[in-house]
Amino acid sequence: MDKWAELRRLHGLNKGRHILDLFDGSRAGDFAVEADGMRFDYAKTNIDAETRRALIRLAEDAGLAEKRAAMFSGEKINDTEGRAVLHVALRAGEGAVIRVDDQDVLPEVRRIRAACAAFARQVREGVFTGQGGRITDVVNIGIGGSDLGPAMAWLALQPYADGPRCHFVSNVDGAHVHDTLRGLNPETTLVIVASKTFTTIETMTNADTARRWMAEKVANPATQFAAVSTAGDKTAAYGIDPDRVFGFEDWVGGRYSVWGPIGLSLMIAIGPERFDDFLAGGRAMDAHFMGAPFPQNMPVLLALVGIWHNQICGHATRAVLPYDQRLARLPAYLQQLEMESNGKRVAVDGSDLATQSGPVVWGEPGTNGQHAFYQLIHQGTRVVPCEFLVARRGHEPDLAHQHLLLVANCLAQAEALLRGRTLEEARGIMAKKGLTGPELERQARHRVFPGNRPSTVLAYDQLTPFTLGQIIALYEHRVFVEGVVLGINSFDQWGVELGKELALALQPVLEGKAGTEGKDGSTAALVRFLRG
Ligand code: F6P
Repeated sequence: MDKWAELRRLHGLNKGRHILDLFDGSRAGDFAVEADGMRFDYAKTNIDAETRRALIRLAEDAGLAEKRAAMFSGEKINDTEGRAVLHVALRAGEGAVIRVDDQDVLPEVRRIRAACAAFARQVREGVFTGQGGRITDVVNIGIGGSDLGPAMAWLALQPYADGPRCHFVSNVDGAHVHDTLRGLNPETTLVIVASKTFTTIETMTNADTARRWMAEKVANPATQFAAVSTAGDKTAAYGIDPDRVFGFEDWVGGRYSVWGPIGLSLMIAIGPERFDDFLAGGRAMDAHFMGAPFPQNMPVLLALVGIWHNQICGHATRAVLPYDQRLARLPAYLQQLEMESNGKRVAVDGSDLATQSGPVVWGEPGTNGQHAFYQLIHQGTRVVPCEFLVARRGHEPDLAHQHLLLVANCLAQAEALLRGRTLEEARGIMAKKGLTGPELERQARHRVFPGNRPSTVLAYDQLTPFTLGQIIALYEHRVFVEGVVLGINSFDQWGVELGKELALALQPVLEGKAGTEGKDGSTAALVRFLRG
């Protein structure tokens, strides 16, 4: 029997009803879950108890419990690359044991974390210096997972950032490295080259540029370079002192790597102790994910709500809307986490996926988005499920009144999506303005909000290192659950390869060293135009 059949039946049965009609006295409590001070509310979706049961059955039948255990115990579940998937090991607590190929990996994880912490302290305390003295600026050069995690977290944790300023260079566009380095003092700048493979063309090109920039002022630039990579041989060949090379294993996927040495720039910025709090938040979410029954399990529910909206209701995109300016980079971070993980067209066994893959994820912080794209979310013809995030309090006690406004806006948007405004209500508004007849009718129709649009809210006390850890781990596990239900390997990323290969081949063509034979007409014409 088709595993989606029951959910499709329920969707067909219930799609005409209004979410508001589901609200009895207990829905708000029944369709929300709390864990370690965080609340996930999914009451404003068209999921009722029967649908939730069917969704949970879907997860159970997919073998979620066994697959979750397999991931946490170091089995090689990334089977197109023959790798374990153990980002959870990077935040595992004292006393844990996780084996890969019969070897406990945690002693080495702890050793590297201690080495990173020692280096971070040296930088923060001015023991490690540049040619010009104390390090004032750290430039992290990396891309994808070697950039998005630390860059997102550095912005998120600004209230805790009391170390050197951090900068993030990712794009191969020379404008990025140029504009970032301009204004920095090479004599007091530390460059961290962050690349799991240490071969990524963008990162290595930017690292070369930064090294040349530093060499103009610093006698031996290598002394102000550090590296984070799984490829110790390549960092050595690049001339980086092994004392400042922080390694990790291939069982840490790039987009899951912020918890380990890839987070070094963040650790330098906020200090190792607060970085530990970040890990503790991730660990708390791990314990919840492992221990809570599915109906109360936040990552499981978050994933199943997403599956309901995308695979069953057919809503192709999902907006992530943090009412938290410091989470401005979260949507970009989640784009990689979710779309690189679950944007796959074949199942683990190589067969065509029987349903849609993961959704398009996009978003911007509120309230900014309200003055940009929310028009479409409220009145466009497509339904966009929205995920709001909001804190009970900010970090600026003097500006508590602004925070209150922020929270009011967040809740108001979710309420507006749910409730909408009927034609009758719109007519009343127009009548009050003195309109009558056909013009009243015409104007009123523009002011109708269909409502009945689903959204969820993730609410937490304050965006601390611990909370950020919870949020990131929550989303990681959500992606895992979604991948298990869809039957996808969430941990490879073959879809990025073809473009890389073609770019390499196009380089000599653009340089005029090779011809455009074999290229399609459009590409050949663009090459001619761009060669000038
Ligand atoms: O091209 C995609 C990708 O491999 C991502 O998965 C990864 O996060 C990014 O490139 C950077 O890779 P690396 O850390 O090896 O430079």
